[in-house]
Amino acid sequence: MAPGGEQAALRSTLETPSTTSGRRRLNRVDELPPFPEGWYFVASRESILRRKLIELTWLGEEIVVWSDRNGRICVAGAFCPHLGSHMGPTVGGVVRDGCLVCPFHGFEFDTSGACVATPNAPAPRAAKLKVYETREILGMIFAWWGIGGRPPQWDLPPEPPDGPEWSPMRSYTFRFRGHPQETAENSVDLEHLGYTHGYGDVEPVGTLSIDGAYLKSCFDFTSVRKIAGVIDILSDIETVTHVHGLGYSFVEIHEKTIGMDARMWVLGTPVDGTFIRLTLVTQAREIRKPRRFIVGLGFLPMKLRHRLMSRLLLLEEKRYVRQDVVIWERKRYRSPPRLCRADGPIGKFRLYCRQFYPEPTSQSRATAANSAQRFASGPGSR
Ligand code: FES
Ligand SMILES: [Fe+2]
Repeated sequence: MAPGGEQAALRSTLETPSTTSGRRRLNRVDELPPFPEGWYFVASRESILRRKLIELTWLGEEIVVWSDRNGRICVAGAFCPHLGSHMGPTVGGVVRDGCLVCPFHGFEFDTSGACVATPNAPAPRAAKLKVYETREILGMIFAWWGIGGRPPQWDLPPEPPDGPEWSPMRSYTFRFRGHPQETAENSVDLEHLGYTHGYGDVEPVGTLSIDGAYLKSCFDFTSVRKIAGVIDILSDIETVTHVHGLGYSFVEIHEKTIGMDARMWVLGTPVDGTFIRLTLVTQAREIRKPRRFIVGLGFLPMKLRHRLMSRLLLLEEKRYVRQDVVIWERKRYRSPPRLCRADGPIGKFRLYCRQFYPEPTSQSRATAANSAQRFASGPGSR
């Protein structure tokens, strides 16, 4: 998709719950390896273009992200192959004419990762950045993280249909102690939907289906909660959740009484083996003929209705995630869990998850050990 346009409205904010503000680091992952293999959200195209050069800690790696003038985005390891400088903006790295320029001796790298110039000598051919494979879905940039650096083993789905009837995307990022398997497990943990979030009449629709790295789960529920204290819109909901690995969940939402369609992405990304970022992205479709009267909506021009709906959906989902975060931050992974009959298909979900932890190679063990050592003694991660 072309840069800018509809996706330019994708805005991002970052929340760090107060409970994570302390410096104390807990080894939060009890039995799960910290980094399941898969595609993980990096940043939106809009934020990459706006900030020019981004540095991040992502699955235990320090990475830099930028775009060239043709819109080609590069996600690369942050350390220079010359003499090892970090090339992030906080160290002095910049993007000049679409190339990343190292702050130490001025080597320049294009978006393929090749060194294309140095200030006083021909570019050494062997000087190449470690570049991660990327995919883009409606302006969201994902990169593949493979065990031991192995290439993608499966793909993300194609972009869902988009168009002017869909509101601009809105997003919000949480940061907390957690694991992407635990956050993804929410989509099949039907009991907590009522108990923790207060949903009513939670009913699974059909059975959970699994095809390789793709898992689909459908359920209906009711909710009489007023949104922002004004509108009781989420009253009779059908959801279809498409999970593609532990970093990408896409939820299609249909509200039956109004006839509103919305969708939400839930993107969990490990930071350093202790913390994760969880990004929520929402969009709502234009409501041309509401099936019933909605207080307040009638006064709004058509164009603004779906924007408001997307905003309200994000607001509501943020509230639900905050309820989950309190649990996620302090919970222990249980394997095997002692389930009851009312639980959703958690056992099936756990079997699905196994594929994302292939046998580590000796190389990936060494990488993980180095990474753990760095984070045990290093400065706070981003
Ligand atoms: S360390 Fe990057 S140019 Fe020397
Ligand atoms: Fe939840």
